[in-house]
Amino acid sequence: MRTSTIQPRSLPLGPKGRPLVGVLPQMRRRPLQFMAECASTYGDALQVKIAHLHACLLSHPDLVEEVLVTHNRKFIKPQLLKQASEVLGNGLLTSDGDFWLRQRRLAQPAFHRDRIANYAELIAAFSDQLTNRWGNGQTMDIHEEMMGLTLQIVARALFGADVAGHTETVGRALDAALQRFTERMSLMRLLDRFPLPRNIRFRQRQRELDGIIYGMIESRRQSKTENDDLLSMLLHAQDTDGSQMSNQQLRDEVITLFLAGHETTAIALSWTWMLIAQHPEAEARLHDELDRVLGDRPPTLADVPNLRWTEMVVKESMRLYPPAWRVGREAAEDCVIGGYQIPKGMQVVASQWVIHRDPRWYPNPDAFLPQRWDGDLARQLPKFAYFPFGGGPRRCIGDEFAKMEATLILAAIARKFKLTLIPNQQIDYFPSITLRPKYGIQVRAERRGER
Ligand code: HEM
Repeated sequence: MRTSTIQPRSLPLGPKGRPLVGVLPQMRRRPLQFMAECASTYGDALQVKIAHLHACLLSHPDLVEEVLVTHNRKFIKPQLLKQASEVLGNGLLTSDGDFWLRQRRLAQPAFHRDRIANYAELIAAFSDQLTNRWGNGQTMDIHEEMMGLTLQIVARALFGADVAGHTETVGRALDAALQRFTERMSLMRLLDRFPLPRNIRFRQRQRELDGIIYGMIESRRQSKTENDDLLSMLLHAQDTDGSQMSNQQLRDEVITLFLAGHETTAIALSWTWMLIAQHPEAEARLHDELDRVLGDRPPTLADVPNLRWTEMVVKESMRLYPPAWRVGREAAEDCVIGGYQIPKGMQVVASQWVIHRDPRWYPNPDAFLPQRWDGDLARQLPKFAYFPFGGGPRRCIGDEFAKMEATLILAAIARKFKLTLIPNQQIDYFPSITLRPKYGIQVRAERRGER
């Protein structure tokens, strides 16, 4: 057998940053711009120090594929994400290895295309209910509206009717959890132990949330009636040896699904509304399609294949504003990626924001052009030139759900309302775990015709 004589190279050095903290200040202040600048100055692979962490930034789709697919077994979830375990427990997003694999196998059938089809009606109905509350000319923060809507949808998909009346408490607790998570990303962990008001509030919200979730799990275990929601599927899911999830595992998965499934989709929609309002031609094509396909009725699952432009709008929006703007891993062993040495313990980061705006893959990369997806661009691109849902075995379990949900919500609302941006507002993004609009997005909703 011939052995390769090519020796792995060391990763090129990126910016040095400051003593002790390395590039942490830049990563905290302007992570998107910083990562994009690093990629354009130092290339597709480089190493930096982020405080005590040794990290590398990968900005070529083929390198991302090597980490997420080809050599995925050599990587685990990164340290910073593990800190979220305080909230998420050992759920799908944060767990690793055999435990993760078993949980993923148990949960996967709940996200099968046929199962999620059941939720289409629910999505259209909740969207309709929301717009029935809107008055003509009403102004609102569309991000807040989308957060409320997707929370209701994911809560109902998980728990069926049981959740009615609890959605607000759950939403509040999730907000507190996200807030906490964001703070933890800023390495403020030392303060967690003290009885500060925010810590007390956080624990109280967590207790409320756990109380509701354990209550629902328990009453579902006692119940003799068949339910068609995700909780029932997870509760009855059996591994090959006949074992099932404990209450604690169910709680962790349910909170994970709540968190992973509600804010991301809301963010995708919020940026989509902004982009549509800023691009009258794209908006006109959207309205034409909805009038032609739906007329004056709400959308159903059967309409989705005919809502091509609507889908392309969502796809292009997630290219420009990927709700998950980076994926991270930690090398569990020494390995070689793209010919570069990656030592055990190194934090590996790849940013959707950077790769989705790379002119090598997208001509005129900063422009919102849904029509770019009309031909066979998707087939020509390297696999990881577009990866809003990640990839490989840890690909988002809710990707099909989210795509269907975003398309149906956009269709259900845009068939009735045209949203215009309130002038002179400041719109900016806040890259924490997700890419939220920092100050929300203020719009005026105008009724389209007499629908
Ligand atoms: C537009 C909406 C969404 C986006 C952009 C998104 C994005 C992502 C990404 C990038 C990952 C992979 C993270 C990594 O590799 O480190 C992920 C994982 C995950 N997502 Fe989503 N997601 C969305 C919606 C949803 C929904 C609706 C659900 C569930 C109802 C969900 C549940 C999950 C879970 C459980 C994981 C962890 C999967 C595993 O590791 O096995 N997501 N998501």
